Amino acid sequence: MTHATPRTARFTLDPAFRVAPVSRRTFGSFVEHLGRCVYTGIFEPGHPAADADGLRTDVLELIRELGVSTVRYPGGNFVSGYRWEDGVGPVQDRPTRLDLAWHSTEPNTFGLDEFIRWTGKAGLEPMMAVNLGTRGVQEALDLLEYCNIPGGTRLSDQRVANGAKQPHGVRMWCLGNEMDGQWQIGHKNADEYGRLAAETGRAMRMIDANLELVACGSSGSNMPTFGQWEATVLDHAYDVVDYVSCHAYYEEKDGDLGGFLASAVNMENFIADVVSTADHVRAKKRAKKRINISFDEWNVWYMSRLQDEFPKDEWPVAPRLLEDHYHLADAVVVGSLLITLLRNSDRVTSASLAQLVNVIAPIMTEAGGRAWRQTTFHPFAQASRYAIGDVLRVEPVSPTYETAEYGDVDLLQAVATHDEQTGATTVFAVNRSQDAPLSLEVDTRAFGSVRLAEATTLAGDDAYARNTAEDPDRVTPQPNASAAVDGGTLRVSLPPVSWNVIRLVRS
Ligand code: AHR
Repeated sequence: MTHATPRTARFTLDPAFRVAPVSRRTFGSFVEHLGRCVYTGIFEPGHPAADADGLRTDVLELIRELGVSTVRYPGGNFVSGYRWEDGVGPVQDRPTRLDLAWHSTEPNTFGLDEFIRWTGKAGLEPMMAVNLGTRGVQEALDLLEYCNIPGGTRLSDQRVANGAKQPHGVRMWCLGNEMDGQWQIGHKNADEYGRLAAETGRAMRMIDANLELVACGSSGSNMPTFGQWEATVLDHAYDVVDYVSCHAYYEEKDGDLGGFLASAVNMENFIADVVSTADHVRAKKRAKKRINISFDEWNVWYMSRLQDEFPKDEWPVAPRLLEDHYHLADAVVVGSLLITLLRNSDRVTSASLAQLVNVIAPIMTEAGGRAWRQTTFHPFAQASRYAIGDVLRVEPVSPTYETAEYGDVDLLQAVATHDEQTGATTVFAVNRSQDAPLSLEVDTRAFGSVRLAEATTLAGDDAYARNTAEDPDRVTPQPNASAAVDGGTLRVSLPPVSWNVIRLVRS
């Protein structure tokens, strides 16, 4: 590939430009009873790598490498028709049910207690969603009692009898899922949902005052009720909840790669709009606390393909659904969305990549076969590993390019983190150009003397290159030999369509 003349982007790094501490919860993910996320994804008794609980240890290893913090469960759309009791107790007594959300059959051989055991093995913090579609306050209270009360009540004793002596201690709870969406079982208008969320949350706090509660925001900034939904829901539930959720999925449309690479502009605006709406309600209520954002579903998702794969006349168990095979450009967009989440760490304090295994996921498995890393695995794993300490605000001066959807967009997108204790500083940067490297110059003088520890790039000649089970490392981060620090300036060449991580240490 021949590249056009490189252009230059610049910014200044300064430890004083602190946005907020990096929240580990930014690196959350999501496991839904959907397709093969649970069955043959994380759970496959009989697989050669399965442990005594039927959990795939090859997948557990990849999850640890990915650096996931929290995990949202059990849905998603699934939760709005789910009876959590179906998934606890002796497996042979559990009912088989229709899953209306995904037109599947739910065997319930994996449920709440298996999930909690799995989070323990994977080192994850569970984040539970309650069903506010077909159910309400009482069932949410029952679930909370089962999970968090040590014992001495009917439901907590049931948990103990089911083998979980210690309470599950679940702190984060989503009050329903995407209740603004017409597709949601038990869909509600904003007043109906806001009241129900407030009532449910208030009652849950009577059991445990220390919970962190998430109210459903909009399923996307393109929803017709966006903005008004958040305002109305928070009018009802402001005192009760800690977070309002955002969900956003992106895909390349009509071959517009440039527009797709700029997807983070949409996410950035989405966050700004939800923050201002939440703060507007705060001002009206003269409230002290601020509501933060739980961006608890985000990813690249080729949603336009969903209709083709949806089972029509059958109710299969764990069908292949939403198994997007990601390419390099998808990974660059995922990296760019991570940069956006980090840039907004003062208000986005929790996020979940949707989802974790097989279903629009960074990890893929074959039933009875191997597990492997998709392209999107890499930016997530690197950001989770190296975003340590505080997020630093950077204000790049960058050449731009034109997009149909967002107008002129910077070629460079970047953020940095700095760990005061170790002196480590990391720059995360995306070059959105499709045809030219971007020369990046970073003024590092505010840190005193620093040297380069490592620079890597996720790039390649083919923006549509994918990893497969047969060729799992085709797209993987490579050293970037162009990086150097000299006279207080970091200089590095960022290849076209690339995700880059540059690590500096005190010298
Ligand atoms: O993550 C897939 C689906 O996307 C979830 O079930 C739903 O909440 C969203 O619409």
